[in-house]
Amino acid sequence: MNTIIEGKNLVKEYRLGKDNYVHALRGASVEIAKGEMVAIMGPSGSGKSTLMHILGCLDEPDGGEVCLNDRRVDGVSGRELTKIRSRELGFVFQGFNLVSTLTALENVALAAEYAGTPRKLALRCAERALRRVGLADRMRHMPSELSGGQQQRVAIARALVNSPAVILGDEPTGDLDTATSDEIMVMMREINETTGTTFVLVTHNPEVGEACDRVINMRDGVVATTGDEVSVTMQPFVEPGWSAEPSMAVPT
Ligand SMILES: Nc1ncnc2c1ncn2[C@@H]1O[C@H](COP(=O)(O)OP(=O)(O)O)[C@@H](O)[C@H]1O
Ligand SMILES: [Mg+2]
Repeated sequence: MNTIIEGKNLVKEYRLGKDNYVHALRGASVEIAKGEMVAIMGPSGSGKSTLMHILGCLDEPDGGEVCLNDRRVDGVSGRELTKIRSRELGFVFQGFNLVSTLTALENVALAAEYAGTPRKLALRCAERALRRVGLADRMRHMPSELSGGQQQRVAIARALVNSPAVILGDEPTGDLDTATSDEIMVMMREINETTGTTFVLVTHNPEVGEACDRVINMRDGVVATTGDEVSVTMQPFVEPGWSAEPSMAVPT
């Protein structure tokens, strides 16, 4: 597997009080290939968001390893981690999380500026990202003037603006009606296929799971099943009617 992001034996405990811990992750391992679109599913409280936050360098594990692009990122200093996060990763959340006092264009440009892009270039990159998500005619709108689906498109443009290797989403379609949710999924899939950006989406929605290459199932803080690994290499071509096992040969 051409791995882009990997978590090994991840442990995360939240301390609620003296001698009272919640074991959010109890040795969760997961490996995601470059260019894959995967869903993380499982019951509420099974550790999906915790896993996504740790894979996305938003939170640190108490045990285990995280590798991004063959580089260990657990234990990396806060400042360096912020840099990795802003340049190599993009995030989409359920509640869109746009800055309400900035236009769509400014919201997206801000993410480019955070990553070190000069203002003028940041605005150009933001324009391109907004076109890509179909919002060419809404760039100067404020978030309050946009529908939920449009706001989530702005958030996806913001996640895309620095051309990250991986986009992580926590219930990205959770606040959207079915039709809008489908539209957003089709768009993310198209971005995945045309740009090769890896997507990791935490979801409750079985349709989102179905639209992905693979579903990783969480249960009680561990990865229960990881679905079929999607191979990015070509399968060897086998002529119809031919089989390596003579007894299995199908006459043509
Ligand atoms: N900041 C926190 N403080 C204390 N407990 C937490 C915190 N975040 C998550 N938890 C607990 O950790 C477990 C896993 O949570 P989470 O990763 O959010 O699960 P999921 O996203 O699958 O619903 C749950 O029992 C949850 O209550
Ligand atoms: Mg969650």
